[in-house]
Amino acid sequence: MQTVRRREELAQALAGFASERVALVPTMGALHAGHLKLIEEGRKRADKVVATIFVNPLQFGANEDLGRYPRQEAEDARLLDQAGCALLWLPAVEDIYPEGFATTIHVGGVTERWEGEVRPGHFDGVATVVAKLLIAVAPDIALFGEKDFQQLAVIRRMATDLALPVDIIGVATVRDKDGLALSSRNAYLSRQERELALALPIALEFARDAIRSGKEVAPNLAAAKQQLVDSGFLKVDYLALVDSTTLEPLDTPAGEMRLIAAATLGTTRLIDNLAV
Ligand code: PAJ
Repeated sequence: MQTVRRREELAQALAGFASERVALVPTMGALHAGHLKLIEEGRKRADKVVATIFVNPLQFGANEDLGRYPRQEAEDARLLDQAGCALLWLPAVEDIYPEGFATTIHVGGVTERWEGEVRPGHFDGVATVVAKLLIAVAPDIALFGEKDFQQLAVIRRMATDLALPVDIIGVATVRDKDGLALSSRNAYLSRQERELALALPIALEFARDAIRSGKEVAPNLAAAKQQLVDSGFLKVDYLALVDSTTLEPLDTPAGEMRLIAAATLGTTRLIDNLAV
């Protein structure tokens, strides 16, 4: 695997892939099996996989974990190499956001609720950096995890609205043996919190099974929320049944649906979602 930092090096490396099908996998590093699944899926669908590691300051709120976000560049490069990634781009903050930077991308609608409400400006940061990475690498396809379900919906909306010449591919969530979705932020959990965290996928499964069996939506969502609180989650930001494309809440089952949730355990905020 080749590793590049500066844009000139990136352009040179990409020129070597000119006649090949290229897949892009953007990440913020601290890689785990979920990220590596995106590389694996990229390899199935393209000739060359390009990964980026960039802890994007624009998508972190003032009180969020930018300063303590886990960084392990050498280990990440080793994992990507092992997974068959062809090229790793590690842009500098000054490269993505040059002095005087004043352009952001705002995706409306799908960003308004849930993560967008709890983390104002977050999706502007995500959309802006993803657009910049897509423009710089110009891949044929780009892969994103369903783990961040709203993010995937936002990126799809942006790619459609800007007619970006790229196929956006969603990849199923990779979970630990016990069912907890893999996340770089799981590293913040104490051993006890790690055990309690399991209540999140369990509450989603409970709600999914109830909705599938035709039970009323609202009381079941309320019961699943209560389960989280009873299991030790301090705060449940949301646990909702939504339309998979628009992320609008649903009172009754209809079309393609998703159960999405965000809740805080100690000082760690976890998100998860399930297909219904
Ligand atoms: P990051 O959290 O590092 O995630 C990078 C990619 O890995 C995202 O597409 C995310 O959905 C996917 N991913 C994370 N955990 C996963 C899991 N357990 N199973 C499957 N896929 C998983 O998401 C971001 O970075 C950033 O917002 C980014 C898109 C890179 C823009 O800065």
